[in-house]
Amino acid sequence: MAEVKMVGLKKYFGAVRALDGIDLEIEDGKFVVLLGPSGCGKTTLLRCVSGLEKVTDGRVLFNEKDVTDLPPKSRNVSMVFQSYAVWPHMKVYDNIAYPMKIKKYDRAEIEKRVEWAARLLNIHELLDRYPAQLSGGQRQRVAVARAIVLEPAVLLMDEPLSNLDALLRVMMRSELKKLQERLGTTTIYVTHDQVEAMTMGDMIAVMNQGKLQQYGKPEEIYHKPANMFVAGFIGSPRMNFLNVEFMEEKGEYYLMSDIFRFPVGNEKVQELKRTNTKKFVFGIRPEDIHLEGEKEYSVEGEVYFTERLGADTILHVKVDKERLVAKLPGDVVLKEGERITIYMDPEKFHLFHPETEQAVI
Ligand SMILES: Nc1ncnc2c1ncn2[C@@H]1O[C@H](COP(=O)(O)OP(=O)(O)OP(=O)(O)O)[C@@H](O)[C@H]1O
Ligand SMILES: [Mg+2]
Repeated sequence: MAEVKMVGLKKYFGAVRALDGIDLEIEDGKFVVLLGPSGCGKTTLLRCVSGLEKVTDGRVLFNEKDVTDLPPKSRNVSMVFQSYAVWPHMKVYDNIAYPMKIKKYDRAEIEKRVEWAARLLNIHELLDRYPAQLSGGQRQRVAVARAIVLEPAVLLMDEPLSNLDALLRVMMRSELKKLQERLGTTTIYVTHDQVEAMTMGDMIAVMNQGKLQQYGKPEEIYHKPANMFVAGFIGSPRMNFLNVEFMEEKGEYYLMSDIFRFPVGNEKVQELKRTNTKKFVFGIRPEDIHLEGEKEYSVEGEVYFTERLGADTILHVKVDKERLVAKLPGDVVLKEGERITIYMDPEKFHLFHPETEQAVI
C-alpha cells in the first residue's frame, strides 16, 4: 500500500517535453485513471513512477519516501503493459511465478501465491497451458495475475485492455475494477478511452502535452471542467463552444453571441464582473440542449444533419454561420432543412476565459 506523490516531475527527450512539471498526489488505495490524447506523456509518467525511466527533474515519493533514484526492483511496483507481455515459452503457471522466482521465494510460497492470484483472476484452470492456447482476455488476465502476485505497493497499468474486442473490454473493465477494490492496491491506470476513465476511476487525471490539466472525481471532471481542453476532451459528442460578450443594457446583463442574447442571473453577474475581460467562450454540452425549455434561452435554426444512433439522435443545427450539436432522444424525428427551435439549459452552460482558456464559472 502506498500513497504516491509526484513533485515537479519533468522528463525531456531532447527537445520533447514528455512531462513538463507534473504535481500529483495520489491517496493510498485509490484507482486513478490517467487520461489524455496520444503523445501527452501517459506512458512516460508510468515509466517514471516505476523507475524504468530516469526523470529529468522533480521527485517521486511513495509514502513520503523519496524513490526517485531507486531502481524498479527496489520500488515494489508492478506494471502491466499494453501488449500482453507474457512469455510465450512459459506455461501460465510459470509466467505468474516468474517474479517470485527472480526474488528467490521458496517453492511452497510460490505455489500458494500462484494459486491465490490465479483464482482471483479466474484462470486457475489454465495454469498448464501455454499463452498461445489462450484467448486475448485470458492472456491479459495472466499478465494481471503476474503483476499482483507479489502484492505490489503500486500497480501501474498501461492501456491493458486496448487489444481486446469491445465486449471483452467491458467485462474486463468491471473485473479489474472489482479486483482493485478487493486488493486495495494504489493503482494508476492509463487509457485514452474516456468511457473507461469515467467508469473505472476513483479519480481522473487529465493530461495534455506533458501537463496535468485537472485532477478530480469523474463527476467533477465532467460537470466542472477546469479549462477548455478538459471540457472538450470529456464528453461525446464534444461540448459546443461559442464566442460571447458580457454586456449591459438598461440595468440588465446579457451574454451576447452572433446567434443569441441570453440574460445572466445576479450571482453570475458578480462573478463575471470580477474577471478582467468582457469576452468569454461559452460552452454547452450537446446533452444540455433540448427541444423544450425557456424561451429566453432558445435559438432558431435549421436542421443540418441528424445521426440516428438508436438510443440517441445527434442533431446538427445550423444557426446563421454557427453550427450547434444537440443530443436528443432516439425517437425524435427531424427532417433535414426543417426550421427548428432549440433550448439551452441555463443552469448547465460553462464560461471560459478567451486567452487563458480557464473556466470562470
Ligand atoms: N524514448 C523516447 N525518445 C524520444 N521521445 C520519446 C520517447 N518516449 C516518448 N517520447 C515522446 O514523448 C512524448 C510522450 O510519449 P508517451 O509515450 O508518454 O505518450 P502517451 O501519452 O503514452 O501516448 P499514447 O497514448 O500514444 O501511448 C511523445 O511526444 C513521444 O514521442
Ligand atoms: Mg502510451
